[in-house]
Amino acid sequence: MTRMPGDAFRIAENAPLRSRNTFGVEANAPWLVEIAEARALPQVFALPQLQAAPPLLLGGGSNLLFAGDAPGAVLSLQADGVRIIEDDGTTAIVHAEAGKTWHDFVLWSLGQGLCGLENLALIPGTVGAAPIQNIGAYGTEVGEFVRRVHAWDRAEGAFVALDAAACAFGYRDSVFKQEPDRRFVVAVEFALPRQRAPKIEYAGLPEELAAMGVVAPTPRDVAEAVIRVRTRKLPDPALLGNAGSFFKNPIIPAAQAEALLATHAGMPVFRGDSVATRKLSAGWLIDQCGWKGFRDGDAGVSAAHALVLVNHGRATGAQLLALARRIAASVQERFGVAIEPEPKLIGASW
Ligand code: EPU
Repeated sequence: MTRMPGDAFRIAENAPLRSRNTFGVEANAPWLVEIAEARALPQVFALPQLQAAPPLLLGGGSNLLFAGDAPGAVLSLQADGVRIIEDDGTTAIVHAEAGKTWHDFVLWSLGQGLCGLENLALIPGTVGAAPIQNIGAYGTEVGEFVRRVHAWDRAEGAFVALDAAACAFGYRDSVFKQEPDRRFVVAVEFALPRQRAPKIEYAGLPEELAAMGVVAPTPRDVAEAVIRVRTRKLPDPALLGNAGSFFKNPIIPAAQAEALLATHAGMPVFRGDSVATRKLSAGWLIDQCGWKGFRDGDAGVSAAHALVLVNHGRATGAQLLALARRIAASVQERFGVAIEPEPKLIGASW
């Protein structure tokens, strides 16, 4: 590890990444740069080691699959400060640095009496990663609460601030995903209300709250219910390598969904991104193809949720990707629907 002046950042050569991705697959980075504070980024981006290939900014490593080694330098931003920068008694503006663990941030916000993020409890990863794929769960997407995103823009060679509209949030989508390798999120500003009607319609939540004996749920109750449901349904990456949902739920033309319903009456169908589209459940489609609990060597599909690929120990990223391709091909063949990975693929394309 080379220490740099003032320790604003440090560089390691040929760094192992196994403990830095929640799939727990082996991969190396030619350079790993650990950055204490965002203000060091102009200096970091000027390093000769970053010129050969676009760098990868790694958060919690919970939404990517290393199908091979990282082609370029891997950056890790450690700054994790959180503070309220405005508060009119109704809504607080919170500034959170990218390195903050997402779930800790959700708990902190609830502790401050702020609402909105309770449905997003226990999502792995960091604050900085949250807007990139517009994390969502149990009827809430983070984009609803993002006021601005601060990023280093490689194209501009400058820090920029994007308001929510400029972030172009969609289902598991944003401008950061649309223009990969361009902007590196350094902090997120959230607008969080002090009061809000709880959002508890998502299937499973009312049942969980009832089982908890809660009649008028507070945001903390909702978070607790979400934590219970997630813990039951989704494997803990600390115990079984995974990256949450491996596939996005496909959005298809409404007419195609109608045609599929005619032959598959039990198929869950949700509203799409317009009146002309519908969203299907990739988990259901994969389950129907018989993959739940499947295992080939150490690469497998969770027995609890068909949408989650798991690493039982020593699976390689390439083996997990090969399994993902087999799953997608079977869904395509049986239902005529294309499903695509949700995590970022490193060293391969879909
Ligand atoms: N289903 C099955 N078999 C399964 C799993 C699910 O048939 O093995 C069916 C069920 O019928 C259920 C439907 O699929 O009605 C939906 O399942 P679930 O409620 O678990 O939600 P999901 O659509 O599979 C999405 C997100 C999750 C998020 C949950 C809850 C995506 C790709 N995934 O999953 O996000 O936690 O909703 O809101 O949108 C993630 O992105 O990593 C993630 C875990």
